[in-house]
Amino acid sequence: MAIRTIREYGDEVLAAHCKEVKEVTPRINELIDDMLETMYDANGVGLAAPQVGVLKRIVVIDTTGDDPHILINPVILETSGEQTGYEGCLSLPGKSGVVTRPNYAKVKAYDRNMHEFILEGTELLARAICHELDHLDGHMYVEKVEGDLVDNEELMAENEDEN
Ligand code: NI
Repeated sequence: MAIRTIREYGDEVLAAHCKEVKEVTPRINELIDDMLETMYDANGVGLAAPQVGVLKRIVVIDTTGDDPHILINPVILETSGEQTGYEGCLSLPGKSGVVTRPNYAKVKAYDRNMHEFILEGTELLARAICHELDHLDGHMYVEKVEGDLVDNEELMAENEDEN
């Protein structure tokens, strides 16, 4: 496994449309391992293949730190509700912005054995699913931000003031 370089906002690879995975080759398996390692190393809760420069429909998500989800060719089947809150992206380090997302998302995807499965999530997991799937079609959360992006340091200082 290896930590890969995370592409940053402005890199054209992040605006591209990703291709479906037809077969999980050893190379794809290695990519998935590297994506997980890269996400954990960066303290992220999700990472999409284009963020490491690969235009394939693969995302990894782990909102708790010990529950990795690997989604190949994911498709959203259902969403409901609404949540509004701060969101960030490893491709835009140190920044956050307010984004409204569904509060529930149900997604169909394939695992490493190309077996279809369903993943459902609420709150942060639903947000992560929607955020990561957007990456596969070249979209970043900044397109949906309400108001301005803020520095994470400012956000943390604000939270401390409230306590
Ligand atoms: Ni992102």
